[in-house]
Amino acid sequence: MKPVRIGIAGLGTVGCGTVRVLERNGDEISRRAGRKIEVTRALVKDASRLRDCPLTGIELTTDSRDLIEDPEIDVIVELMGGDDAARDLVLKSIARGKHVVTANKALIAVHGNDIFENARQHGVMVAFEAAVAGGISIIKVIREGLSGNRVNRLAGIINGTSNFILTEMRVGGREFADVLSDAQRLGYAEADPAFDVGGIDAAHKLTILASIAFGIPLQFDKVYTEGISNIRPEDVEHAAQLGYRIKHLGIAARVEGGFELRVHPCLVPEKRLLANVDGVMNAILVEGDAVGPTLHYGAGAGAEPTASAVVADLVDVVRALTTDPENRVPHLAFQSGRLSDVPILPIAKIQSAYYLRLNALNRPGVLADITRILGNLDISIQAIQQKGNGDHEAVLPIIIVTQMTREENMDQALAQLGELQTVVGEIIRLRLENLEWD
Ligand code: NAP
Ligand code: HSE
Repeated sequence: MKPVRIGIAGLGTVGCGTVRVLERNGDEISRRAGRKIEVTRALVKDASRLRDCPLTGIELTTDSRDLIEDPEIDVIVELMGGDDAARDLVLKSIARGKHVVTANKALIAVHGNDIFENARQHGVMVAFEAAVAGGISIIKVIREGLSGNRVNRLAGIINGTSNFILTEMRVGGREFADVLSDAQRLGYAEADPAFDVGGIDAAHKLTILASIAFGIPLQFDKVYTEGISNIRPEDVEHAAQLGYRIKHLGIAARVEGGFELRVHPCLVPEKRLLANVDGVMNAILVEGDAVGPTLHYGAGAGAEPTASAVVADLVDVVRALTTDPENRVPHLAFQSGRLSDVPILPIAKIQSAYYLRLNALNRPGVLADITRILGNLDISIQAIQQKGNGDHEAVLPIIIVTQMTREENMDQALAQLGELQTVVGEIIRLRLENLEWD
């Protein structure tokens, strides 16, 4: 059978990883796919740059039309990243009847509804396994493996760079900026690392996971998003003393009245499986009503782990080239037109436990004032510690762990605590998930 011809847009970390995997495992891949897969063209910004992969048989170009308009190319693999150029390439390729594979979570989370509608109209596939959790096949697991379940909730470490930074801060006592530059050198970070440390990359991924888990449209703008840049070494240490680890989690849950979609740093009891996922590794806990809790673990970023997912998508596309376009696995798991309009709740309505760190004057009655404010708002305290044995009137940190409460109660409590004359400076609030379902 004639080989399937591929045009790759982007020959950076993931693009080169993909070319290397296709080259190294070519025979095995074609035995799985039923046809040989050949990369014939690659789109780059700077054609004179040295590449970290073999370029035999690949014509480099800086003009996207050379890929889009090449009638010999069956599949476009978009590995450039970014927004406008990627969207333009993908939509034009779909309009020409080409299938698309992409690792671009920003593109899918923000423009996916439109892209999938275009793909449906033109009878082509848009595959995006590599967009979430690097090498873990979590899209396939939720969309296909768990399709008999009503998915109730999922929680995951879905940004490798943030997990790498938090791990190195905890284990190696290293500085944030220093670890981030390592993550960039190792090819884990986004072109703009603010997407990683600001939680945006994880919010893109959570948008996609929630959509396929719950059968809702992609709604990136509804995800509550907080990154790790405010995590201080002292909080990592206090959390450890209390038996917790700080992890950056994406959480999606079906709750009364809607769905929770949130991305933020979180204290997790150190005995939980997710608390022990370190470095660039990702893990996603998914609970279905039939299967119960399931945990999916693997490398969340990097050239070849991500290429593993890109190539798996390519194999799926190649296998599907001969099947009925009306009867393929739907892009967002549920049939188009059957997506639900149940609302996503604002962060104020979520329920969580909390870790608070505040600095207060060492004066009689301070703890009583704090506990009264929390008590009046129906917030129960699980643990409270005043650190140090400083002099009268010295400023000492107070660490509080609460039971579950509503975020809006905690917002009010923080406002009132901030007004106490004895409380000095910023109050640190981190959410805490006991994850008793893992
Ligand atoms: P990268 O190393 O920065 O590579 C980007 C490539 O795209 C480069 O080859 C660049 O060309 C090319 N490019 C960028 N903009 C272009 C444009 N407008 N026209 C033509 N070529 C353009 O990025 P990456 O880390 O491989 O990431 C690629 C995508 O995969 C992103 O969407 C990212 O979010 C996603 N992803 C990355 C990882 C990871 O671990 N890195 C994991 C999962 C998903 P030049 O080389 O000539 O500059
Ligand atoms: N920058 C992303 C991360 C790449 O660190 O998880 C994988 O999507």
